[in-house]
Amino acid sequence: MADRQTIINSVKSKYGAVARASAPSCCNPSGCGDCQTTDISVGYATDELNSVPKGASMGLGCGNPTSFADLKPGEVVLDLGSGGGIDCFLAAKKVGERGFVIGVDMTEAMIECARQNAASGGYSNVDFRLGEIEELPVEASTIDAVISNCVINLAPDKSRVFREVYRVLKPGGRFSVSDVVAKGPIPSTVKNDMERWAGCVSGALDKNDYLRLVQEAGFERIEIRSEVEYDYQRTADFSLASVTLVAYKPINEKH
Ligand SMILES: C[S@@+](CC[C@H](N)C(=O)[O-])C[C@H]1O[C@@H](n2cnc3c(N)ncnc32)[C@H](O)[C@@H]1O
Repeated sequence: MADRQTIINSVKSKYGAVARASAPSCCNPSGCGDCQTTDISVGYATDELNSVPKGASMGLGCGNPTSFADLKPGEVVLDLGSGGGIDCFLAAKKVGERGFVIGVDMTEAMIECARQNAASGGYSNVDFRLGEIEELPVEASTIDAVISNCVINLAPDKSRVFREVYRVLKPGGRFSVSDVVAKGPIPSTVKNDMERWAGCVSGALDKNDYLRLVQEAGFERIEIRSEVEYDYQRTADFSLASVTLVAYKPINEKH
């Protein structure tokens, strides 16, 4: 596997270019086209897409984590790798004016894009912060629900991300994440290809390892709510899939 900084640089470079290509309106309504090498987008309901600022919907996600997060008015939500902000804006509607949504992304152009979208949509209950999901710019035990859409596979150290999610959640808080996972060993020709890492392929963890790391971080009631297998790079003993899982931080946390 490539070193941490090489991964971070190549992911930032890819998503910086995606955000800049969509300027000045962030993105066109038909999406960014080549954002993914895998064509792994999983659709939102049409009324959801129509409800967010046009530039927020970049076609970069692989699920709809907000729809499984059971968000309630007044809750505080954190979105890891918020991109143009689509899931933040969907969450903002659900938690309402008494609630609050924080989006974190390490790519400056994406944060700028999301802030423009928030301004154009008149969202006063959303804040976009520049930062890495392995070291979240968020205080401990302050979040009711963490969501994330097609981002954790891009991180060099997934275990650290899950521990950070655990740290920022309130006791009893939940985590609804859509992500790409591998079923079987990733072919060696793909594994060290940085372009494919940034395209949500090479960094995918084996599904069982992914679930194990979530459990080792301290989560309980881990449940896969949706799973879609892709044909991209499929062989007899390997495939990629998008999973959406929900997990809870225990109310009486042990660590
Ligand atoms: C595939 S896009 C998904 C964007 C958004 N979640 C969506 O569904 O439209 C991945 C996003 O995660 C951000 N990202 C990737 N790795 C990250 C990391 N380690 N820390 C913070 N942000 C990261 C990228 O800058 C990019 O905006």
